[in-house]
Amino acid sequence: MSRITKGLAVLGSTGSVGTQTLDIVRAFPNDFNVIGLACNRNLDLLQSQIEEFAPRYINCNGTEAEMASLESNGCQDCDLDTMVRDPDVDMVVTATVGDVALGPTLAAIDAGKDIALANKETVVMAGELVSTRAKNAGVPLLPLDSEPNAIWQCIRGEETGISRMIITASGGAFRKTPIGALADATPQQALKHPTWAMAQKITIDSATMMNKAFEVIEARWLFDVPWDDIEIVIHPESIIHSMVEFVDGSVKAQISPPDMHLPIQYAMFYPERLHNPNIKRFDPVATGALTFEPWEAERYPCFDMAIGYAKRGGSWPAALSGANDAAVELFLKGKIGFLEIGIVIKEALEAHTSNQTPDLDEIIAAGKDANARVVKIVEG
Ligand SMILES: NC(=O)c1ccc[n+]([C@@H]2O[C@H](COP(=O)([O-])OP(=O)(O)OC[C@H]3O[C@@H](n4cnc5c(N)ncnc54)[C@H](OP(=O)(O)O)[C@@H]3O)[C@@H](O)[C@H]2O)c1
Repeated sequence: MSRITKGLAVLGSTGSVGTQTLDIVRAFPNDFNVIGLACNRNLDLLQSQIEEFAPRYINCNGTEAEMASLESNGCQDCDLDTMVRDPDVDMVVTATVGDVALGPTLAAIDAGKDIALANKETVVMAGELVSTRAKNAGVPLLPLDSEPNAIWQCIRGEETGISRMIITASGGAFRKTPIGALADATPQQALKHPTWAMAQKITIDSATMMNKAFEVIEARWLFDVPWDDIEIVIHPESIIHSMVEFVDGSVKAQISPPDMHLPIQYAMFYPERLHNPNIKRFDPVATGALTFEPWEAERYPCFDMAIGYAKRGGSWPAALSGANDAAVELFLKGKIGFLEIGIVIKEALEAHTSNQTPDLDEIIAAGKDANARVVKIVEG
Protein backbone atom coordinates (compact mmCIF):
# COMPACT_ATOMS: atom_id res chain seq x y z
CA MET A 1 0.00 0.00 0.00
CA SER A 2 1.43 3.38 -0.92
CA ARG A 3 1.81 5.94 1.84
CA ILE A 4 1.24 9.68 1.64
CA THR A 5 4.48 11.68 1.43
CA LYS A 6 4.77 13.92 4.51
CA GLY A 7 6.13 17.46 4.31
CA LEU A 8 8.70 17.90 7.07
CA ALA A 9 10.22 20.88 8.86
CA VAL A 10 13.20 19.93 11.03
CA LEU A 11 14.12 22.53 13.67
CA GLY A 12 17.64 21.71 14.83
CA SER A 13 18.53 19.67 11.74
CA THR A 14 22.28 19.75 12.45
CA GLY A 15 22.05 18.39 16.01
CA SER A 16 22.01 14.91 17.46
CA VAL A 17 18.24 14.35 17.09
CA GLY A 18 18.01 16.40 13.88
CA THR A 19 20.67 14.40 12.03
CA GLN A 20 19.08 11.12 13.19
CA THR A 21 15.71 12.40 11.93
CA LEU A 22 17.32 12.94 8.53
CA ASP A 23 18.73 9.38 8.70
CA ILE A 24 15.11 8.19 8.81
CA VAL A 25 14.30 10.37 5.80
CA ARG A 26 17.29 8.80 3.99
CA ALA A 27 16.01 5.32 4.85
CA PHE A 28 12.50 6.14 3.55
CA PRO A 29 13.09 8.78 0.85
CA ASN A 30 9.64 8.44 -0.74
CA ASP A 31 7.83 9.04 2.53
CA PHE A 32 9.13 12.51 3.30
CA ASN A 33 9.58 15.80 1.53
CA VAL A 34 11.91 18.06 3.52
CA ILE A 35 10.34 21.52 3.32
CA GLY A 36 12.37 23.32 5.99
CA LEU A 37 15.68 22.97 7.85
CA ALA A 38 16.82 25.14 10.74
CA CYS A 39 20.00 25.31 12.78
CA ASN A 40 22.10 27.81 14.67
CA ARG A 41 25.67 28.17 13.34
CA ASN A 42 26.70 24.83 11.83
CA LEU A 43 26.52 26.14 8.29
CA ASP A 44 28.85 23.51 6.81
CA LEU A 45 26.46 20.74 7.75
CA LEU A 46 23.45 22.84 6.78
CA GLN A 47 25.06 23.37 3.36
CA SER A 48 25.39 19.64 2.77
CA GLN A 49 21.80 19.11 3.99
CA ILE A 50 20.59 21.76 1.54
CA GLU A 51 22.37 19.94 -1.30
CA GLU A 52 20.98 16.56 -0.25
CA PHE A 53 17.39 17.44 0.68
CA ALA A 54 16.72 20.61 -1.38
CA PRO A 55 14.43 22.25 1.23
CA ARG A 56 12.21 25.19 0.32
CA TYR A 57 13.16 27.10 3.49
CA ILE A 58 16.15 27.40 5.77
CA ASN A 59 16.73 29.30 9.00
CA CYS A 60 20.07 29.81 10.74
CA ASN A 61 22.06 32.40 12.63
CA GLY A 62 25.04 32.85 10.33
CA THR A 63 26.78 36.19 9.93
CA GLU A 64 26.04 38.25 6.83
CA ALA A 65 29.26 37.01 5.21
CA GLU A 66 28.51 33.37 6.08
CA MET A 67 24.98 33.68 4.70
CA ALA A 68 26.34 35.22 1.52
CA SER A 69 28.69 32.28 1.01
CA LEU A 70 25.93 29.71 1.62
CA GLU A 71 24.82 28.15 -1.65
CA SER A 72 21.12 28.09 -0.96
CA ASN A 73 20.11 26.30 -4.17
CA GLY A 74 17.14 28.65 -4.38
CA CYS A 75 15.79 27.98 -0.90
CA GLN A 76 14.46 30.89 1.07
CA ASP A 77 15.82 32.12 4.41
CA CYS A 78 12.72 32.66 6.57
CA ASP A 79 11.70 32.84 10.21
CA LEU A 80 10.71 29.64 12.00
CA ASP A 81 7.02 30.55 12.33
CA THR A 82 6.74 31.07 8.57
CA MET A 83 8.56 27.80 7.93
CA VAL A 84 6.35 25.66 10.16
CA ARG A 85 3.12 27.26 8.93
CA ASP A 86 3.78 26.50 5.25
CA PRO A 87 0.75 24.61 3.87
CA ASP A 88 3.04 21.84 2.57
CA VAL A 89 4.45 21.12 6.05
CA ASP A 90 2.58 18.22 7.68
CA MET A 91 4.96 17.48 10.55
CA VAL A 92 7.34 19.67 12.54
CA VAL A 93 10.26 17.96 14.29
CA THR A 94 11.33 20.13 17.24
CA ALA A 95 14.96 19.20 17.88
CA THR A 96 16.49 22.52 18.92
CA VAL A 97 17.80 23.20 22.43
CA GLY A 98 16.55 25.74 24.99
CA ASP A 99 13.53 27.94 24.31
CA VAL A 100 14.02 28.31 20.52
CA ALA A 101 11.21 25.92 19.58
CA LEU A 102 8.58 27.29 21.97
CA GLY A 103 7.03 29.97 19.73
CA PRO A 104 7.31 27.91 16.50
CA THR A 105 5.72 24.90 18.24
CA LEU A 106 2.70 26.99 19.23
CA ALA A 107 2.58 28.46 15.70
CA ALA A 108 2.65 24.94 14.25
CA ILE A 109 -0.08 23.76 16.66
CA ASP A 110 -2.27 26.70 15.65
CA ALA A 111 -1.68 25.79 11.99
CA GLY A 112 -2.76 22.18 12.70
CA LYS A 113 0.63 20.50 12.11
CA ASP A 114 1.68 17.26 13.78
CA ILE A 115 4.42 17.94 16.32
CA ALA A 116 7.21 15.35 16.64
CA LEU A 117 8.52 16.65 19.92
CA ALA A 118 12.13 16.09 20.94
CA ASN A 119 12.72 19.46 22.59
CA LYS A 120 12.07 18.77 26.26
CA GLU A 121 12.30 22.42 27.20
CA THR A 122 9.06 23.11 25.29
CA VAL A 123 7.11 20.90 27.69
CA VAL A 124 9.21 21.72 30.76
CA MET A 125 8.82 25.48 30.31
CA ALA A 126 5.31 25.58 28.91
CA GLY A 127 3.79 22.14 29.51
CA GLU A 128 0.35 23.37 30.51
CA LEU A 129 0.13 25.97 27.74
CA VAL A 130 1.40 23.68 24.97
CA SER A 131 -0.59 20.59 25.98
CA THR A 132 -3.82 22.58 26.40
CA ARG A 133 -3.32 24.37 23.08
CA ALA A 134 -2.60 21.07 21.28
CA LYS A 135 -5.63 19.38 22.88
CA ASN A 136 -7.95 22.22 21.91
CA ALA A 137 -6.59 22.24 18.35
CA GLY A 138 -6.78 18.44 18.05
CA VAL A 139 -3.07 18.38 17.22
CA PRO A 140 -1.03 15.37 18.34
CA LEU A 141 2.15 15.90 20.37
CA LEU A 142 4.21 12.87 19.30
CA PRO A 143 7.07 12.31 21.76
CA LEU A 144 10.49 11.50 20.23
CA ASP A 145 12.28 11.38 23.55
CA SER A 146 12.87 7.68 24.26
CA GLU A 147 11.20 7.55 27.69
CA PRO A 148 7.91 9.30 26.90
CA ASN A 149 7.99 7.54 23.53
CA ALA A 150 8.20 4.21 25.41
CA ILE A 151 5.24 5.17 27.62
CA TRP A 152 3.29 6.19 24.53
CA GLN A 153 3.98 2.80 22.94
CA CYS A 154 2.96 0.98 26.17
CA ILE A 155 -0.41 2.75 26.43
CA ARG A 156 -1.24 2.46 22.76
CA GLY A 157 -4.78 1.11 22.53
CA GLU A 158 -5.06 0.99 26.32
CA GLU A 159 -5.20 4.48 27.74
CA THR A 160 -7.38 3.76 30.76
CA GLY A 161 -6.78 1.70 33.87
CA ILE A 162 -3.22 3.01 34.28
CA SER A 163 -1.92 2.96 37.85
CA ARG A 164 1.77 3.95 37.46
CA MET A 165 4.26 5.14 34.90
CA ILE A 166 7.80 3.96 35.67
CA ILE A 167 10.52 5.93 33.90
CA THR A 168 13.90 4.24 33.69
CA ALA A 169 17.20 6.06 34.19
CA SER A 170 20.67 4.78 33.32
CA GLY A 171 22.10 6.54 36.38
CA GLY A 172 24.28 8.79 34.22
CA ALA A 173 28.04 9.14 34.35
CA PHE A 174 28.26 9.13 38.17
CA ARG A 175 26.05 6.22 39.22
CA LYS A 176 28.97 4.48 40.90
CA THR A 177 31.09 7.48 41.85
CA PRO A 178 31.44 7.95 45.64
CA ILE A 179 29.12 10.81 46.57
CA GLY A 180 32.04 12.50 48.36
CA ALA A 181 33.95 12.69 45.05
CA LEU A 182 31.16 14.41 43.06
CA ALA A 183 32.35 17.90 44.00
CA ASP A 184 35.53 17.28 41.98
CA ALA A 185 33.79 15.71 38.95
CA THR A 186 35.03 17.26 35.71
CA PRO A 187 33.07 18.05 32.52
CA GLN A 188 35.09 15.33 30.72
CA GLN A 189 33.96 12.75 33.29
CA ALA A 190 30.35 13.97 33.25
CA LEU A 191 30.28 13.75 29.44
CA LYS A 192 31.01 10.00 29.49
CA HIS A 193 27.43 8.69 29.35
CA PRO A 194 27.39 4.95 30.01
CA THR A 195 24.78 3.96 27.40
CA TRP A 196 23.64 6.83 25.13
CA ALA A 197 25.65 8.93 22.67
CA MET A 198 24.08 12.40 22.94
CA ALA A 199 24.93 16.08 22.74
CA GLN A 200 26.80 17.75 25.63
CA LYS A 201 23.90 19.58 27.31
CA ILE A 202 21.64 16.54 27.67
CA THR A 203 24.58 14.36 28.74
CA ILE A 204 25.34 16.73 31.65
CA ASP A 205 21.61 16.82 32.45
CA SER A 206 21.77 13.01 32.62
CA ALA A 207 24.66 13.15 35.09
CA THR A 208 22.77 15.56 37.39
CA MET A 209 19.42 13.79 36.67
CA MET A 210 17.90 17.11 35.73
CA ASN A 211 17.14 15.24 32.51
CA LYS A 212 15.07 12.67 34.43
CA ALA A 213 13.15 15.45 36.18
CA PHE A 214 12.45 16.92 32.73
CA GLU A 215 11.12 13.53 31.60
CA VAL A 216 8.80 13.34 34.62
CA ILE A 217 7.51 16.79 33.67
CA GLU A 218 7.09 15.60 30.05
CA ALA A 219 5.09 12.56 31.22
CA ARG A 220 2.93 14.75 33.50
CA TRP A 221 1.84 16.98 30.60
CA LEU A 222 1.99 14.64 27.60
CA PHE A 223 -0.06 11.90 29.28
CA ASP A 224 -2.04 14.02 31.76
CA VAL A 225 -1.08 11.90 34.78
CA PRO A 226 -0.79 13.08 38.40
CA TRP A 227 2.77 13.72 39.62
CA ASP A 228 2.50 10.98 42.24
CA ASP A 229 1.76 8.32 39.61
CA ILE A 230 5.18 8.77 37.98
CA GLU A 231 8.18 6.92 39.43
CA ILE A 232 11.84 6.56 38.54
CA VAL A 233 13.96 3.44 38.72
CA ILE A 234 17.65 3.08 37.88
CA HIS A 235 18.13 0.62 35.03
CA PRO A 236 21.82 0.76 34.06
CA GLU A 237 21.50 -1.19 30.78
CA SER A 238 19.06 1.33 29.16
CA ILE A 239 17.22 -1.48 27.37
CA ILE A 240 13.82 -0.90 28.97
CA HIS A 241 12.99 2.70 28.12
CA SER A 242 10.01 2.96 30.47
CA MET A 243 7.14 0.89 31.84
CA VAL A 244 3.44 1.33 32.52
CA GLU A 245 1.60 -0.50 35.28
CA PHE A 246 -2.16 -1.08 34.97
CA VAL A 247 -4.68 -1.38 37.82
CA ASP A 248 -4.62 -5.19 37.73
CA GLY A 249 -0.86 -5.13 38.42
CA SER A 250 0.19 -6.02 34.88
CA VAL A 251 3.21 -4.05 33.62
CA LYS A 252 4.09 -3.32 30.00
CA ALA A 253 7.65 -2.34 29.11
CA GLN A 254 9.09 -1.01 25.86
CA ILE A 255 12.39 -2.74 25.08
CA SER A 256 15.01 -1.98 22.45
CA PRO A 257 18.76 -1.26 22.29
CA PRO A 258 19.54 2.38 23.16
CA ASP A 259 19.23 4.09 19.77
CA MET A 260 17.20 7.24 19.16
CA HIS A 261 16.46 6.22 15.57
CA LEU A 262 13.71 3.89 16.80
CA PRO A 263 11.60 6.41 18.79
CA ILE A 264 12.19 9.03 16.09
CA GLN A 265 10.98 6.68 13.36
CA TYR A 266 8.00 5.53 15.48
CA ALA A 267 6.81 9.13 15.86
CA MET A 268 7.47 10.02 12.23
CA PHE A 269 5.36 7.10 10.93
CA TYR A 270 2.81 6.80 13.74
CA PRO A 271 0.50 4.87 13.73
CA GLU A 272 2.41 2.64 11.29
CA ARG A 273 5.42 0.48 12.25
CA LEU A 274 7.98 -0.14 9.51
CA HIS A 275 11.04 -2.33 9.16
CA ASN A 276 14.28 -0.35 9.06
CA PRO A 277 17.34 -2.58 8.53
CA ASN A 278 19.58 0.13 10.03
CA ILE A 279 18.00 -0.18 13.48
CA LYS A 280 19.69 -2.73 15.69
CA ARG A 281 17.49 -5.52 17.09
CA PHE A 282 17.18 -6.60 20.72
CA ASP A 283 18.99 -9.89 21.37
CA PRO A 284 17.86 -11.16 24.82
CA VAL A 285 20.68 -13.69 25.25
CA ALA A 286 23.45 -11.37 24.07
CA THR A 287 22.01 -8.59 26.26
CA GLY A 288 21.99 -10.76 29.38
CA ALA A 289 20.54 -9.61 32.68
CA LEU A 290 18.37 -6.52 32.92
CA THR A 291 18.95 -5.01 36.35
CA PHE A 292 17.29 -2.36 38.50
CA GLU A 293 18.53 -0.27 41.41
CA PRO A 294 16.72 2.01 43.83
CA TRP A 295 16.72 5.75 43.33
CA GLU A 296 19.37 7.54 45.42
CA ALA A 297 17.97 10.98 46.25
CA GLU A 298 21.20 12.25 47.84
CA ARG A 299 23.23 11.40 44.72
CA TYR A 300 20.93 13.43 42.45
CA PRO A 301 19.80 16.54 44.42
CA CYS A 302 18.85 18.38 41.21
CA PHE A 303 16.01 15.93 40.64
CA ASP A 304 13.96 16.67 43.79
CA MET A 305 14.70 20.37 43.47
CA ALA A 306 13.46 20.41 39.87
CA ILE A 307 10.29 18.46 40.60
CA GLY A 308 9.56 20.82 43.50
CA TYR A 309 9.72 23.84 41.18
CA ALA A 310 7.74 22.05 38.46
CA LYS A 311 4.92 21.28 40.90
CA ARG A 312 4.64 24.97 41.76
CA GLY A 313 3.56 25.51 38.14
CA GLY A 314 3.17 28.92 36.46
CA SER A 315 6.49 30.44 35.46
CA TRP A 316 8.58 28.34 37.89
CA PRO A 317 9.50 25.51 35.49
CA ALA A 318 10.47 28.02 32.79
CA ALA A 319 12.78 29.73 35.26
CA LEU A 320 14.18 26.32 36.24
CA SER A 321 14.94 25.45 32.60
CA GLY A 322 16.59 28.80 31.87
CA ALA A 323 18.69 28.61 35.04
CA ASN A 324 19.73 25.05 34.25
CA ASP A 325 20.82 26.01 30.71
CA ALA A 326 23.15 28.65 32.15
CA ALA A 327 24.46 26.44 34.96
CA VAL A 328 25.30 23.58 32.58
CA GLU A 329 27.09 25.94 30.23
CA LEU A 330 29.12 27.40 33.09
CA PHE A 331 30.03 23.91 34.30
CA LEU A 332 31.13 22.93 30.78
CA LYS A 333 33.31 26.06 30.67
CA GLY A 334 34.91 25.06 33.97
CA LYS A 335 33.51 28.08 35.83
CA ILE A 336 31.57 26.10 38.43
CA GLY A 337 31.93 22.63 39.92
CA PHE A 338 29.52 19.77 39.28
CA LEU A 339 27.64 20.12 42.59
CA GLU A 340 27.40 23.87 42.13
CA ILE A 341 25.02 23.35 39.19
CA GLY A 342 22.13 22.71 41.59
CA ILE A 343 23.31 25.34 44.07
CA VAL A 344 23.38 28.23 41.57
CA ILE A 345 20.03 27.20 40.09
CA LYS A 346 18.45 27.28 43.55
CA GLU A 347 20.01 30.64 44.35
CA ALA A 348 18.78 32.11 41.06
CA LEU A 349 15.27 30.78 41.57
CA GLU A 350 15.05 32.24 45.08
CA ALA A 351 14.85 35.62 43.33
CA HIS A 352 12.17 34.48 40.87
CA THR A 353 8.85 36.31 41.04
CA SER A 354 6.12 33.82 40.37
CA ASN A 355 3.54 34.36 37.65
CA GLN A 356 0.90 31.62 37.90
CA THR A 357 -0.74 32.25 34.50
CA PRO A 358 2.11 33.26 32.19
CA ASP A 359 1.65 33.71 28.45
CA LEU A 360 4.33 32.67 25.96
CA ASP A 361 6.31 35.92 26.23
CA GLU A 362 6.26 35.74 30.02
CA ILE A 363 7.39 32.11 29.97
CA ILE A 364 10.31 32.94 27.69
CA ALA A 365 11.16 35.99 29.83
CA ALA A 366 11.12 33.88 33.03
CA GLY A 367 13.65 31.51 31.44
CA LYS A 368 15.89 34.31 30.20
CA ASP A 369 15.79 36.18 33.53
CA ALA A 370 16.76 33.07 35.50
CA ASN A 371 19.48 32.30 32.97
CA ALA A 372 20.93 35.80 33.33
CA ARG A 373 20.68 35.55 37.13
CA VAL A 374 22.77 32.38 37.17
CA VAL A 375 25.42 34.05 35.01
CA LYS A 376 25.42 37.07 37.36
CA ILE A 377 25.73 34.88 40.46
CA VAL A 378 28.74 33.10 38.97
CA GLU A 379 30.44 35.84 36.98
CA GLY A 380 29.35 38.90 38.95
N1 LIG B 1 20.26 13.89 21.90
C1 LIG B 1 19.33 13.04 22.24
O1 LIG B 1 19.53 11.82 22.16
C2 LIG B 1 18.02 13.52 22.78
C3 LIG B 1 17.09 12.58 23.22
C4 LIG B 1 15.85 13.03 23.66
C5 LIG B 1 15.54 14.38 23.69
N2 LIG B 1 16.48 15.28 23.29
C6 LIG B 1 16.12 16.70 23.33
O2 LIG B 1 16.11 17.18 21.99
C7 LIG B 1 16.55 18.53 21.94
C8 LIG B 1 17.75 18.60 21.00
O3 LIG B 1 18.80 17.86 21.60
P1 LIG B 1 20.11 17.46 20.81
O4 LIG B 1 20.83 16.57 21.73
O5 LIG B 1 19.78 17.01 19.43
O6 LIG B 1 20.86 18.87 20.76
P2 LIG B 1 22.11 19.31 19.86
O7 LIG B 1 22.81 18.13 19.32
O8 LIG B 1 22.86 20.30 20.67
O9 LIG B 1 21.42 20.06 18.64
C9 LIG B 1 20.70 21.25 18.82
C10 LIG B 1 20.21 21.73 17.48
O10 LIG B 1 19.53 22.98 17.67
C11 LIG B 1 20.14 23.97 16.82
N3 LIG B 1 20.00 25.28 17.42
C12 LIG B 1 20.59 25.74 18.55
N4 LIG B 1 20.24 27.04 18.74
C13 LIG B 1 19.43 27.39 17.72
C14 LIG B 1 18.77 28.58 17.34
N5 LIG B 1 18.89 29.70 18.09
N6 LIG B 1 17.99 28.58 16.22
C15 LIG B 1 17.86 27.47 15.46
N7 LIG B 1 18.48 26.30 15.76
C16 LIG B 1 19.25 26.27 16.87
C17 LIG B 1 21.57 23.51 16.68
O11 LIG B 1 22.20 24.13 15.57
P3 LIG B 1 23.84 24.16 15.44
O12 LIG B 1 24.24 22.73 15.14
O13 LIG B 1 24.04 25.07 14.31
O14 LIG B 1 24.35 24.63 16.76
C18 LIG B 1 21.33 22.02 16.48
O15 LIG B 1 20.87 21.78 15.17
C19 LIG B 1 16.86 18.93 23.39
O16 LIG B 1 15.76 19.56 23.94
C20 LIG B 1 17.10 17.59 24.09
O17 LIG B 1 16.81 17.63 25.46
C21 LIG B 1 17.70 14.88 22.82
